[in-house]
Amino acid sequence: MITRQFRNSDAQAVSDLIIANLKQINSEFYPENVIQRMIKVYTPKHLIETAQKQLVLVAEELDEIVGTATISQNYFGSVFVRPDMQGKGIGNKLMDSLERLAKLNGLQEVKLHASINAVNFYIKRGYRKIGKISDEKFGESFEMAKTLENT
Ligand SMILES: CC(C)(COP(=O)(O)OP(=O)(O)OC[C@H]1O[C@@H](n2cnc3c(N)ncnc32)[C@H](O)[C@@H]1OP(=O)(O)O)[C@@H](O)C(=O)NCCC(=O)NCCS
Repeated sequence: MITRQFRNSDAQAVSDLIIANLKQINSEFYPENVIQRMIKVYTPKHLIETAQKQLVLVAEELDEIVGTATISQNYFGSVFVRPDMQGKGIGNKLMDSLERLAKLNGLQEVKLHASINAVNFYIKRGYRKIGKISDEKFGESFEMAKTLENT
């Protein structure tokens, strides 16, 4: 598996991967109206626009996109692994890449918004909850932070 920067030609595959997660994974934890709103957000066009403003990464295996994540200053976002590829260490590798980049940029602490279903994944990686976010449109999530070690 390699981690590389998003290219515009990845937009459809990344959108499909995120929407598959919203339908198959996140829908167990969020109401249908929230899921439908999120599906509307993650269009290929939105991803291309996001990649102009922040660093979007993709995880690629055998020429297929199996994961994605974003980094903007000290904030990570949109961490998704293709549903059929979850539980194989891809999420951990993506997070390793994000944290390595953050350290290279001199950051000592990083933050993210975790959806309810992913909180324990981040806790396992040393993140702690620092706040609860209750958004009328996008539901409940947690703000989490991790102090990066000087290695
Ligand atoms: C959360 C997510 C990114 C994890 O990716 P993954 O590739 O499945 O994770 P990994 O295989 O690298 O797992 C790493 C460790 O975390 C654990 N883990 C993975 N997902 C977990 C979850 N949702 N809850 C608790 N633990 C989890 C694994 O068991 C593994 O533990 P181990 O190191 O003891 O073996 C992925 O499940 C996902 O895309 N979820 C749906 C989308 C989503 O909600 N993303 C987060 C938005 S903030």
